[in-house]
Amino acid sequence: MKGIFIVMEGPDGSGKSTQIALLKQYLDEVGCECLITREPGGTAIGEAVRNIILNPDHEEMSDVTEMLLYAASRAQLMSEVIIPALEAGKIVISDRFVDSSIVYQGIARGLGTDTVAAVNRPGIGQYEPDCIFFIDISEEEGIRRKKLQNKLDRMEQESIDFHSMVSRGYREVLSGREEVIHIDGSASVEHIQNQIREELKKRIGKLS
Ligand code: ADP
Ligand code: TYD
Repeated sequence: MKGIFIVMEGPDGSGKSTQIALLKQYLDEVGCECLITREPGGTAIGEAVRNIILNPDHEEMSDVTEMLLYAASRAQLMSEVIIPALEAGKIVISDRFVDSSIVYQGIARGLGTDTVAAVNRPGIGQYEPDCIFFIDISEEEGIRRKKLQNKLDRMEQESIDFHSMVSRGYREVLSGREEVIHIDGSASVEHIQNQIREELKKRIGKLS
C-alpha cells in the first residue's frame, strides 16, 4: 500500500464530520491532495445501502441483516474507492471504518467481535488504517448534539443503553492500539482540530 489511510471513529455526534471538513481544509492549504469518504455510503451502491440501513421505517431489520449491509457497503467502498486511491498513493480519510461495525454490531448488538471481523475480512483484505482518531464523547452529549442537528435516523433512535454500550465498546476496542489517537470530544472544535493536525504532522512527516 502506497497511500495513507486515516480513519475518524467515535459515537454519533462526537464531531467526526466537523473535524474531517476542517482537516480537509488544512490538507488543501498545505498542498496534500486527499480523498474524503464516509460509511455507510461513499459509492452509489453504498449510498443506496445507507438509505436502507438508516431508514427509521425499517424497524423489522434483524441484527444480522444490519451487520451484513454495513459489510456490503464497506466491501464496495474498498474495491471501488479506497483500494484504488491507496494504490495510487493518495491520502484517504474515512468517516468511520470497520471498528464501527465491531463496536455497534459486535458489542452493542451482541453479535460478537470475532463474527463481525470475520464477515468484514473478505471486503477489507490486508488493508488497515495507518491512523485512527477516536473522538470520545458521552452518549448523552452525542445524542443531545444530534437532536439539535436533525431528525434522528434508525440507529440514533436506539435507546440510551444502546448508545452507552457503544461509548464503552469504543473505549474497550480502541484502547492500547498503536495506531489509535484518543481524543477528548468534549473539548472545543478548534482544540480538537489542533490536536489532530499535530498528531498527523508527527505521524506523517511530509506535512508542513
Ligand atoms: P458526527 O459526524 O460525529 O456525528 P458532527 O461533526 O456531525 O458529528 O457533529 C454533531 C453536532 O455537534 C454538530 O451540530 C456540530 O456542529 C456539533 N459539534 C461538533 N464538534 C463539537 C464540539 N467539539 N463541541 C460542541 N459541538 C460540536
Ligand atoms: P454516521 O452517518 O457516521 O452517523 P453519525 O454522523 O451520527 O456519526 O453513521 C450512521 C450510523 O451507522 C451511526 O449511528 C453509526 C452506525 N454504524 C454502524 O452501526 N456500523 C457501522 O459499521 C457503521 C459504519 C456505522
